[in-house]
Amino acid sequence: MKAKKLIEVAMPIKEISAESVRDNRLAGGNIRTLHIWWARRPLPTCRAVVFASLVPDPLDEYCPQAFKDAVADILMSDRQYAPYKDIPYTAAYDPMEDNMRNRLMMFIGKFSPLCQENMKVGKKTAPADQLAPGSLIKWENHDNKLILNKAQKFIWIAYNSEMHPDLTYDSLSSSFDQYKDAIETSENELYCLVDRHKDSERVISLENKLLRAIEDFQNRMPAVFDPFAGGGAIPLEASRLGCRSFGNDINPVAHIVEKGSAELPQKYGKPLILSRKEFERLYGSLGENILQEVSGALFSGETVSIPNRLSFDVAYYAHIIIKKAETEIGKYYPKDEAGNTVAAYYWARHGRCSNPSCRADFPMMKNFYLANTKNTQVYLNPVVVDNHVLFELKKGRYDTHVLGEWNHHGTITCPCCGSVTDSKITKEQARATGLTPVFYAMISESENGKHYSLPTESIRRIVESPVDEIDGPEESLPLNDGRNMMVAFWGFTKWKTLFSPRQLRAVNTFIKYFNEVKDSLTPSDYSNALLTYLAIWIDRIAQFNTMFSRWNDISEKIQHLFGRQSISMIFDFVESNPFCNSSGSAINQLGWILKYIDSESFSSFSARFENSSSGDKIQFDAKSLSAVITDPPYYDAITYSDCSDFYYVWLKRTLGDIYPVNFSTPLTPKTEECTAMKHRFGGDERKARLHFENKLTEIFDAIEVQTSDIVSIMYAHQSTEAWTTLCNSILTARMNITGSWSLDTEMSGGLKTDKAYLESSVTVACRPSERKGFGDYKEVKKAIIQKVEKEVEDLYALGFRGADLLTACFGQAVSEFGKYKVVEKADGSEVKVAELLEMARNSAFNSLLKGVQGDDFTRFYIGWLQMNGMGETDFDDATKFTRVGMPVDVSDIFARKLLIREGKKQHLATAAEHLGNSTTQGTHPEDSLIDQVHRAMLAYEKGDRHLLLTLLHNVGADDQSAPFWRLVASLKELLPEGKDLKSVEGLLGNSDNLRQESREVDQHQPEQMSIDFGIE
Ligand SMILES: C[S@@+](CC[C@H](N)C(=O)[O-])C[C@H]1O[C@@H](n2cnc3c(N)ncnc32)[C@H](O)[C@@H]1O
Repeated sequence: MKAKKLIEVAMPIKEISAESVRDNRLAGGNIRTLHIWWARRPLPTCRAVVFASLVPDPLDEYCPQAFKDAVADILMSDRQYAPYKDIPYTAAYDPMEDNMRNRLMMFIGKFSPLCQENMKVGKKTAPADQLAPGSLIKWENHDNKLILNKAQKFIWIAYNSEMHPDLTYDSLSSSFDQYKDAIETSENELYCLVDRHKDSERVISLENKLLRAIEDFQNRMPAVFDPFAGGGAIPLEASRLGCRSFGNDINPVAHIVEKGSAELPQKYGKPLILSRKEFERLYGSLGENILQEVSGALFSGETVSIPNRLSFDVAYYAHIIIKKAETEIGKYYPKDEAGNTVAAYYWARHGRCSNPSCRADFPMMKNFYLANTKNTQVYLNPVVVDNHVLFELKKGRYDTHVLGEWNHHGTITCPCCGSVTDSKITKEQARATGLTPVFYAMISESENGKHYSLPTESIRRIVESPVDEIDGPEESLPLNDGRNMMVAFWGFTKWKTLFSPRQLRAVNTFIKYFNEVKDSLTPSDYSNALLTYLAIWIDRIAQFNTMFSRWNDISEKIQHLFGRQSISMIFDFVESNPFCNSSGSAINQLGWILKYIDSESFSSFSARFENSSSGDKIQFDAKSLSAVITDPPYYDAITYSDCSDFYYVWLKRTLGDIYPVNFSTPLTPKTEECTAMKHRFGGDERKARLHFENKLTEIFDAIEVQTSDIVSIMYAHQSTEAWTTLCNSILTARMNITGSWSLDTEMSGGLKTDKAYLESSVTVACRPSERKGFGDYKEVKKAIIQKVEKEVEDLYALGFRGADLLTACFGQAVSEFGKYKVVEKADGSEVKVAELLEMARNSAFNSLLKGVQGDDFTRFYIGWLQMNGMGETDFDDATKFTRVGMPVDVSDIFARKLLIREGKKQHLATAAEHLGNSTTQGTHPEDSLIDQVHRAMLAYEKGDRHLLLTLLHNVGADDQSAPFWRLVASLKELLPEGKDLKSVEGLLGNSDNLRQESREVDQHQPEQMSIDFGIE
């Protein structure tokens, strides 16, 4: 028997969530900042899930002794990994047992002492200070040799002791040290060679020695595979932890991003020592400048030390390209009148008023601000003369009542005559003749921040002078995707139409000089790596230089066209000056790439990527992968291939000859993509969904064949439908769920909103299952109930609360029915997954409710009270809670005032808040039980005995065993001090009398206030 993995038993989910939220906001050096990919998983989540999928639960009876000894030796005596004395995020004093499992959790992530103290008093902690310095998942530790070495050693011992149970901790620990030392020694030998860029015999022999040392180490580490690798976050983390790491993605753009993220820096981003002569021969004086500027390196004697060869070379060649491009096209980007370099030229498209007697041609602006920050407000103030609109620049705020919205989603209100022209008509105008963009303003770089000005005639002449650039990507956008590619409906049907001729000219010029660099390099794996980054850089320049790039007046920065995972129609845009220093410029874009390479080059281990549709059963030998850790797509949530075509059409032009197979198709592959895009199925949503479900199952099916241990799936959705799809695919692929956790990450709302919203995802651990034939529904149900009850108890002790507890239990409940091929009812009918899920969910919830009966709203109220009390919780908790826990809709919960929303927070309603001004709610037998009890509590509080007795009579509460009284008893257990608790105690204290009298309600009218309610 194998021990359970840690992920199947426990995860420090609050800590992972906190650091993941932080990760989404980190700037330079983080994987998100290399190149766009959609739905990236945060690195802390990926690192935690990879680690916890590879190490056993040290408390499991089958856990190898060597691993327990490792935990004891490395963590048990280290105070920084001691479990919390008092779990900081729970209300009551609640210590955590000091055992090996909890120590391992604290190693993954532990709140810092400061954060623990702050949490207890409801204070916030700065994101960087939330986790303790020793936490594996903390961003600062992504290149911390000491911490990563510990994690790698745990994995080494777990993997090898499972295969060789006779091996002791001491022997495994020393073999780990020995193999790691061999890598380090080989690296030192190779990287201190002078002029190792020349393939001398010595260099080749040392390179081979290093490769062998890495291979020898990794052959003793688990193989981890991500079949939906996307931007490469999971393979990056698997290789960071020393594993043999593999990733697949169907999309060639993702493939390039993956290589850039998790293969090339780790392989080539290493130090290089050059003889001074060789340095000068290769790089000349430009190289010297760059080395000092970019790397901060100094020349010493006869040799030159380049800290990171790859980032240095990328910087060097990028500077050459910038210089040449600027010489050729710099003249198209004039300075402003004050001599400042312009960062962006602001354009607005013109529409025509449909009023026949007006026909004014005017800019379709929605907002007139160029800057709208706390300290600076600048706007374009329109001056209407006859049927012409001119602008003057004004400082301060404008009155939105005076200067209203001219454009609402393409429906325009004419500033000259006030007529409204419907968006249907403007769309027709756009398709017929285009909505001509007109240049209106400039945003320049100045010593005092951004400077805003109107163009002079001479500047206008340069910027508006025609550029005959017709060469550009002729490939077509999807023409029938009204949800994600609205621009096609406005006449932008080819990728090149997203660029103005000037912008095309700019991107083409960069590509021209990129090709010159390519021709100058001797082809090799290294030069291909270098060119890959230069192509990624050109992608970045292109994404900021389209007619769909916005000016963010709040942050005073350019935003690229993918503010959302779609391309929306916009009516004003900025043209970036590639030769300035601001956001959007070539130099700024280069900075992001260099930071990434520098940040991820320290590791000796790189991931290996394939660019193909997953699900190929012969890609890996049967059971040769220890773990699959992945994050699949979800129905039509993101149209990966359509969006990525924006980059594909440029990458084809830059890297097509370097990666000929990957860029052989006109656009990215669509047919095999595991998504549900109805526009690819003639608008048939059912067919699209079926395609997704079949593809997902096919891929899981292959995974099951290839994986020996565990499959951890991160799923960005928690709705019942999402669970059903996921469970169906998992079960059909002969696997079973053995653990589940919900994790939060924060996504930026993007675009101009500057809002942030919480997004939670669920991580499910599965195992290839040995499924028995038929399960009897009654037996399965019983087993689920027992398992969940135990689970609630165990997880509660581990500090799980609220909706997190429910998600965790739900996964465990599902695992029971996954043991059987088929579960049957007594009449022989098969129980469908959706039905089983319903049952599993109910039993998880029931077990939390500990026997509370009643309708869904009542159960919701008690469940929430039990898990969250009456205190404030984050808004997102309600959604999670109802999604997994209950068949009620979160909107109904708010509509019925069971939860009260205040800003981004909510709390459970008191009786008075719940029933508000209503006088009848809760007085009828068919009303929700919680309504009836709250009505009774209010009647008691007011001393309205007549109402109370009538109510008890009407709702059948004149019997002691009625659900009404059981609910009142539960409330007494759960409510905190306060009015509601007093009412409940009063009702219970008088219950015998009340029941007695309520039975007589029909016979005579009760006397007002004849019972002493004990109200002061
Ligand atoms: C949710 S994303 C993965 C994101 C990734 N975890 C990250 O952090 O960047 C899902 C990925 O699945 C890929 N995909 C879709 N269909 C596929 C298929 N049939 N085979 C392989 N990959 C596929 C998409 O291209 C997309 O990159």
